Amino acid sequence: MPFSSSERERWNQKYREAPDVWLEPDPFLPRVFSEYIRPLFPGGRDALDLAGGAGRHAIWLAKQGWEVTLIDISETGVEQARQNAGALASQIHFVVDDLTGFAASQTQFDVVMAFFYLERKIFPEIVKAIRPGGLLVYKTLTMAQLKLAGGPKDPAHLLEEDELLRLSDGLEVLHYREDVAKKATAELVARKKRRREAVTKLSRASGTRIILPTFPSDGSAGLV
Ligand SMILES: C[S@@+](CC[C@H](N)C(=O)[O-])C[C@H]1O[C@@H](n2cnc3c(N)ncnc32)[C@H](O)[C@@H]1O
Repeated sequence: MPFSSSERERWNQKYREAPDVWLEPDPFLPRVFSEYIRPLFPGGRDALDLAGGAGRHAIWLAKQGWEVTLIDISETGVEQARQNAGALASQIHFVVDDLTGFAASQTQFDVVMAFFYLERKIFPEIVKAIRPGGLLVYKTLTMAQLKLAGGPKDPAHLLEEDELLRLSDGLEVLHYREDVAKKATAELVARKKRRREAVTKLSRASGTRIILPTFPSDGSAGLV
């Protein structure tokens, strides 16, 4: 059986057996929301929830007025997400898909988030999916989990020390923390620079003077 089919079945079974353990959002999301997301996007915008499972983070963000696209390989998890969302389901696009081949489309998002999922090879595509000026919010388990009870033991699903920082190369890191408590985790908030900021930084580093056309003060038009 190909990896993804067995992975899908494994998660379908987990969601069927314990539908109630995936309801409360990880506290990192509300914290990041008040510290970074709301100040940057006060009106609420659009987000992508990678491997969003039964929807606890997508639903929480939809409650704050955001439109969220949730992708997950488990059709059982995604169906539970739809049920759990109730009336908020109209703000969430539910997609059953295998992220191992994830390729960012033309559509970009102000926030791309992933909780407790790791597929290293798609990181460049994850970064592409963030709109310039937007945020990556990431939290997952580290290798230190190997010394704790429970949780995955396969290194393919566990981050090495500082690996999240290396994977997010090119983004401006706003918050990074590794922690070992009940779980061993790394969490990151990083911002994708607008092209203008990236070019200014490059010109400072090289000493070259680059003259850009002027844009509206919010820096939005023509920068993507
Ligand atoms: C530990 S759960 C986390 C779910 C959710 N992010 C949360 O925190 O509640 C991992 C999720 O990854 C999904 N997953 C595993 N492999 C996947 C793949 N190849 N493509 C998409 N989703 C996948 C599983 O179905 C599961 O929902």
